[in-house]
Amino acid sequence: MNLSIYAINKGIKQMIGVCILAAGKGTRLNQIYSKVLAPLLGKKLIDYPLSKSIHFLKNNNCLDEKSIGIVVGHDKENVESYINSTFESYQDNYFFAHQKTLDGTASAVESYLKSAGSSLKKYTLILCGDVPLLSLEHLEQLFLSVKNEKDLLAVAASFTAKKPFGYGRIQKSDKGFSIIEQKEIDTHENKEELNNINEVNSGIYIVKTDFLREFIESKTHSSTTNEYYLTDLFKKDLNVKTVLYNDEKNFLGVNSMEQLEEAQRIIVSKHIQSLQKKGVLFHNSSTNIVHEEVDIDAGTIIYPGVILEGKCKIGKDVIIESNTVIKNSVVEDQVFIKANCYIDESQISKKSTIGPFAHLRPKSQLKENVKVGNFVEVKKSILMAGSKVSHLSYVGDATIGDNSNIGCGFITCNYDGKNKHQTIIGKNSFIGSDCQAVAPVSIGDNSFIACGSTITNDVEDGGFAIARSKQVTRPGMAKRFLKD
Ligand code: UD1
Ligand code: CA
Repeated sequence: MNLSIYAINKGIKQMIGVCILAAGKGTRLNQIYSKVLAPLLGKKLIDYPLSKSIHFLKNNNCLDEKSIGIVVGHDKENVESYINSTFESYQDNYFFAHQKTLDGTASAVESYLKSAGSSLKKYTLILCGDVPLLSLEHLEQLFLSVKNEKDLLAVAASFTAKKPFGYGRIQKSDKGFSIIEQKEIDTHENKEELNNINEVNSGIYIVKTDFLREFIESKTHSSTTNEYYLTDLFKKDLNVKTVLYNDEKNFLGVNSMEQLEEAQRIIVSKHIQSLQKKGVLFHNSSTNIVHEEVDIDAGTIIYPGVILEGKCKIGKDVIIESNTVIKNSVVEDQVFIKANCYIDESQISKKSTIGPFAHLRPKSQLKENVKVGNFVEVKKSILMAGSKVSHLSYVGDATIGDNSNIGCGFITCNYDGKNKHQTIIGKNSFIGSDCQAVAPVSIGDNSFIACGSTITNDVEDGGFAIARSKQVTRPGMAKRFLKD
């Protein structure tokens, strides 16, 4: 590589770092945990801005050691340990800054600047930890605007809000602008006028780091709330600007449970729309929850109330009836899942039928053409191709061979109070109704177990076993027991 190109690339690498504000309590959510740990579709609120930041820095060749500073304060230990376990592979790329007194977003940035030390870059992208829907394109656009205008000190992403209440209002002047916080509007003499401004601050900014430092050194607090507002960075007569967006959905800030639900609904409906484009039929998609890592192929039909969580792969021409929950599972083509099933960490091969009211617990594997009927629970078991467990059974720690038929009310007694044991049933066998297999036990291929048997000893291939007491019948004796 030619040396001057190397210098340019190195320069670009030094361009931008990220500061994520995540120290606040989230008082309006009314929870004991920190707001950024609020659950959002199998993840937490903080996952969204953090993973977007990583993506953004990677795209711009700026993901260095300590590129991202996360300001923590309230519930700090839990926030840190959650991030460390979820973003383990990026541990070199981020660091935590501790905001000791939670007195506003400008103080949060002050903690960031102190902890960042020599890892500061020419520009700083500042994000609020409670803005989960921000888009990568918007971040790129903001970055482009500061790169294109060398004298610009800071840029804020603003948007037009249908309900601006709660957001900082953008008050423009000939040059520059200022941001008036909701808490300040309430006591402001121009309250009416300010409340009507619907261009609002998104809490996403890119600032020249030198300018940010100067601002923080001379910051003052609000006389109304005693908070240090980061938004005071923007002033009339300064070379600062807003980039105004009209897609309000991408900037939703989560301060309340209603807004958390709204964020969830926006993410889910966007994902469902992409699945509909692929050819998936939802009978009433507003009643479904489908996590982003769920993929479904064309021709599949999803009934109302179905919930698909975690990482799932659902094949084509599958039918999933109402109120079924599936988590972290694989469902192959042409499977029919009847109403009210619960399926967790399991794998269902082609053309199998499950339910209604069936429970597949983790590590259950149903091979092709298996039938698991109503009120059947399967745990950590393999049901080979063509096998059937049609009614009211518990199959745990077991293998059932090809084409074996298990009658109604079968139970694997897999637990002796201390340990779990295996039940192995071969292929083409018939287990009559109301049998128990006391594990560890194995029943061979082509064997026949008479109904009502408690099987405690192994049965070899082709064997017949019956283990129940003989019937006694006394003619006419019933009247002794019946009422007159
Ligand atoms: C903030 C903006 C507002 C903007 C809105 C967008 C300020 C002063 N106001 O208001 O103009 O319209 O976001 O969603 O910035 N935090 C800290 N330390 C603190 C206080 C807050 O780290 O001392 C963090 C919070 O954890 C949160 C973020 O900063 O992630 C924003 O704080 P929040 O209280 O939600 O600000 P808003 O009132 O929504
Ligand atoms: Ca907020």
